[in-house]
Amino acid sequence: MSVEKGARVRRRRRHHGTTPRTARLFGSLLLVMAAGAFTLGASPAPGTAAAPVPLDRVIPAPASVVPGGSPYRITEDTRIRVDGSREARRAGEYLADVLRPSTGYPLPVTEHGRSGIRLRLAGGPYGAEGYRLDSGRSGVTLTAAAPAGLFHGVQTLRQLLPAAVEKDSVQPGPWPVAGGTIEDTPRYGWRGAMLDVSRHFFSVDEVKRYIDQLALYKLNTLHLHLSDDQGWRIAIDSWPRLATYGGSSEVGGGPGGHYTKADYREIVRYAASRHLEVVPEIDMPGHTNAALASYADLNCDGVAPPLYTGTAVGFSSLCVGKEITYDFVDDVVREIAALTPGRYLHIGGDEAHSTPHDDFVRFMERVQPVVAKYGKTVIGWHQLAGANPAKGALAQYWGLDRTGGAEKELVAEAARNGTGLVLSPADRAYLDMKYDKDTPLGLSWAGYVEVRRSYDWDPGAYLPGVPASAVRGVEAPLWTETLSDSGQLEYMAFPRLPGIAELGWSPAATHDWEDYRVRLAAQGPRWDALGMDYHRSPQVPWS
Ligand code: ACM
Repeated sequence: MSVEKGARVRRRRRHHGTTPRTARLFGSLLLVMAAGAFTLGASPAPGTAAAPVPLDRVIPAPASVVPGGSPYRITEDTRIRVDGSREARRAGEYLADVLRPSTGYPLPVTEHGRSGIRLRLAGGPYGAEGYRLDSGRSGVTLTAAAPAGLFHGVQTLRQLLPAAVEKDSVQPGPWPVAGGTIEDTPRYGWRGAMLDVSRHFFSVDEVKRYIDQLALYKLNTLHLHLSDDQGWRIAIDSWPRLATYGGSSEVGGGPGGHYTKADYREIVRYAASRHLEVVPEIDMPGHTNAALASYADLNCDGVAPPLYTGTAVGFSSLCVGKEITYDFVDDVVREIAALTPGRYLHIGGDEAHSTPHDDFVRFMERVQPVVAKYGKTVIGWHQLAGANPAKGALAQYWGLDRTGGAEKELVAEAARNGTGLVLSPADRAYLDMKYDKDTPLGLSWAGYVEVRRSYDWDPGAYLPGVPASAVRGVEAPLWTETLSDSGQLEYMAFPRLPGIAELGWSPAATHDWEDYRVRLAAQGPRWDALGMDYHRSPQVPWS
């Protein structure tokens, strides 16, 4: 445990935000005293009563951490105290659901009592998603200005408890929370994960499981890639064969599947309960074989191609010159917009290699206003930058570090003209890239992406010539040509997903691989306790 001890004694170097200097010094002094006390004997493991998880051993790194004072200990008498708001009660019930199975304590959620875990919505400089956590002998208080902030604070509190808290059977405890204060707000408003449910279909329960894992790291956007050559996954009443026929295939010839509208609403509801907004993607005009196979009229030659179960890209296109194409787009966008409380609708636009460039531009000029007509804002893959992005549109960059100079310049120019960017560089943020040559799953067209490579870049300075204000955030896509169950999703997403989450949430000044890898190692026992699979990367000092 030498790494653990070193990290505890060496106070975190970086503090940020609004904490007064005297408070920082005081906290520092207390930590040094506490560390001294702990290191007199054998080094106790973090998460035991003698050594609570250090207050800064959290992913994403909080904006400001001031450790100090006595720890709080959750006991069978602990209450979860909420203010009178429905939102605080909801966050309290969620916390209770996490804590009750492993602690075995009743943990009533109540508006009454004095000490305990307190959740309150109040004013304060915490914005839509930030929070403050105060921990001391008499309790832990989470304060936020908005419900998402309380929820994110609850995720921090989870990570401050021993990993066994994540188990679903009663554990011996004890359940200490280190003393001190965290003040935390996110760097970016878009912190996303994309799941490709087209190449392989994933059930509502599998998607919910992934949503719960995204919530652990304060992600707030779930982008669902709902259509591609290999399968159409969402029921559209006005074009029913899209789902019933176009959804009946997947890579490798499996049964495929699709979401009914009730299924989809349930995913959206569940995501919202975890403060994630769902962004539906209908990829157009390429990646459309499943639609073209379902309706012969959508094809320029009037002949429906067969369903496709391979993994090639770039061979399909909607027929840009036919009016029925725009009837189709209007109907699909209208029905999906009606299922979408969120602001955005993703129209794809990547790898349209079978659509002549002029047609691509013409298509995007007709389709973007349809999205606006139904009250949504366009997001597209970054190829949209070459086709007059609508006012307010976002472009999602998925190129590589070292290639695509002309394309990068096009994206930068769009950004300077007001197009917002979500960054998903494939050789950093694509969770389906193999970690190394021995990774049994995934692809490698963007190279191998080990944990450090995935984490070690700065979204704010990534694309040359892009104003920092154009960067709206980051997103980690998970394409599923080679993945067909939750365990496989987890093996590819973890441990890289928390790194992308940290890039989206934490101040740039907290970025430090050596510090991060120690915090990441501490997540392993949590994933074990949750029954999740993950890649035991040799770059991470797992204990
Ligand atoms: C993509 O990877 N084709 C966006």
